[in-house]
Amino acid sequence: MKKILKWMGIGLLIVFLGMQAVQPERSNPPVDESRTLFALVETPPEVRAIIERSCYDCHSHQTRWPWYSYIAPASWLVAADVKEAREHLNLSEWDRYKELRAIAKLDQMCQEVLDDRMPLPAYLWMHPSAKLSQADIDLLCDWVEKARDNLMEPDTNTTSQ
Ligand code: HEC
Repeated sequence: MKKILKWMGIGLLIVFLGMQAVQPERSNPPVDESRTLFALVETPPEVRAIIERSCYDCHSHQTRWPWYSYIAPASWLVAADVKEAREHLNLSEWDRYKELRAIAKLDQMCQEVLDDRMPLPAYLWMHPSAKLSQADIDLLCDWVEKARDNLMEPDTNTTSQ
């Protein structure tokens, strides 16, 4: 019995070490400041701080890859989340979203936090400081409303063409 357990342990260790050979891509593509959300949508510093603290690790090219993103199988899950998050909402490439699309993305940002879907619960478990307070959510949603109004009335928005 002891022998079987020993060999099972060694077997599991080999599998675990083998898994480490499969490294996901943990890239942070270069950021062109002029294309970011903050360059294109006026954002007060307190709202910017909330977004950088709670959303940026997944929805930007400035991910702070945590230590567990280097250990399989967690590494695969984290990399898949970041990849998917950047596809759905990329704050480093905000210029991708024009007019109605930009408005919809802003609305979704407020909606996702109101519904408690973002930041992802598994992320909050490892990053409790990213949890949003009611005051944070109010600030974010008020900002969304103002930014949305500016986008809908391009005449009063001097930065639009
Ligand atoms: C741990 C990674 C992670 C963090 C942190 C995170 N998100 Fe996400 N987000 C995702 C993933 C993955 C998706 C795509 C899958 C989904 O919708 O669940 C997503 C999707 C979204 C979408 C698009 C929904 C859609 O239907 O296209 C919005 C908007 C969004 N997140 C907003 C936010 C906001 C705002 C924050 C910060 C308060 C945030 N997210 C923080 C991972 C994250």
